Amino acid sequence: MKFFLDSAKVDEIAYALDAFDIDGVTTNPRHVQAAGKPFLTTIREIAELVAGTDKPVSVEVNPHIMDTDGMVAEARKLAAISPNFVIKLQCVEPAFKAIRILKEEGIRVNCTLIFSPMQALQAMRSGAYFISPFIGWKEANAEETRGFVDEVVTIRDNYGFESEIIVAAVRNARQIAEAAVLGADIVTAGLAVYQAGFDHPYTRDGIRKFSEFWDQTDYE
Ligand code: E4P
Repeated sequence: MKFFLDSAKVDEIAYALDAFDIDGVTTNPRHVQAAGKPFLTTIREIAELVAGTDKPVSVEVNPHIMDTDGMVAEARKLAAISPNFVIKLQCVEPAFKAIRILKEEGIRVNCTLIFSPMQALQAMRSGAYFISPFIGWKEANAEETRGFVDEVVTIRDNYGFESEIIVAAVRNARQIAEAAVLGADIVTAGLAVYQAGFDHPYTRDGIRKFSEFWDQTDYE
């Protein structure tokens, strides 16, 4: 399973690349706004961090654009900035044709804001390189998500679609483990979610106990 960092903060991305070799990056307008710089400046800085690697960076087209031609034009512009960029298009009807056109041109699309198996199916049929089912938003709304991810993975496998599934809006380690058990390809989460997941109170307790024994023993 691949771990993507869900962030547009250059310092966080650099840290996660160095500390645990994240496999890619996903950004969205909220993350870019939080990074505090203009959109193009931010995505160019991220592109520099991954230059020369095959790590994908998802960058989102202006969400106001709701027509196929506009999506394609903007996607072409963004894709020309970096070979690492995968263009995020929101899961709405005009995006499906845009995904097909862009795929023909070799431009990879991450179809985002997916909340139902039907949306996932259509995004995969259209040729999306990644699809991003969001689970955190559903859970926040008291919807179950294990069955949702399971259905999306099953549909992909039943029909041999090539799209990779990014389980997105992940809030905790349990969701990451579930996504892995269910056979999703990728999770994307914030730095704090990974760091909390790598930690365990028993591990810390064990370190404390073993340190005491260590201190009571001669080295040679
Ligand atoms: C995924 O690609 C999205 O950027 C992300 O997971 C959206 O959710 P969030 O911003 O609420 O975490």
